[in-house]
Amino acid sequence: MEVKKATFKGSWERADQMPQLRTPEFAFIGRSNVGKSSLINMLCNHKGLAKTSAKPGKTQTLNLFDVDGKWLICDLPGYGYAKVSKERRFQFSNMIKYYLNKRENLTCLFVLIDLRIPPQAIDIAFINWAGENGIPFVMVGTKADKAGKKQVAETLENYKVALSEIWEELPTFYVSSSETKEGKPEILGFIQECMAQS
Ligand code: GTP
Ligand code: MG
Repeated sequence: MEVKKATFKGSWERADQMPQLRTPEFAFIGRSNVGKSSLINMLCNHKGLAKTSAKPGKTQTLNLFDVDGKWLICDLPGYGYAKVSKERRFQFSNMIKYYLNKRENLTCLFVLIDLRIPPQAIDIAFINWAGENGIPFVMVGTKADKAGKKQVAETLENYKVALSEIWEELPTFYVSSSETKEGKPEILGFIQECMAQS
């Protein structure tokens, strides 16, 4: 599957303000700066679609994109960004939790982690929360171009170990790079499969 046309639909501060739609929706989450917006642009062949930044905390609202009139992408704000106030962080977390629990057309969530960094407590906490809340999700390791093969294998193994403490079944894991487009066919193929089933 290749994306032909992706367009920005709008951004909202709260999930209950978003239009109720039946189109399958795929959301992207992960720590600030992990590369959510970059991955969305890579998948959609559209560099400026989702705004990216070298500074963490760029995406602060729920941003919706239409893809070929067939599916939707929701770019979520990053979690765990230390530079926003405590109050604002709490708001983010409620905004995200509300969206993930209530969005009826949410088909699958992509949880992004940076392949160069060992599992962080906040990532494990988020994954555990998603699992406990029955949110369908898969994981995507980002910035593979910056991590060596050995580091990629090590990070994946560390996640397996950390998640095995709680979960019997481990999530599907994709390795990606927005720079080299590694992982693009696999992730788009997965999205296509999800849509065929929904
Ligand atoms: P927030 O919206 O702030 O939560 O961040 P985000 O997760 O959307 O990250 P964003 O896509 O804005 O990328 C953050 C930085 O990482 C930017 O400087 C990107 O160019 C860089 N980046 C993202 N993906 C990759 C990648 O696969 N490889 C490399 N080398 N850099 C990447
Ligand atoms: Mg972003």
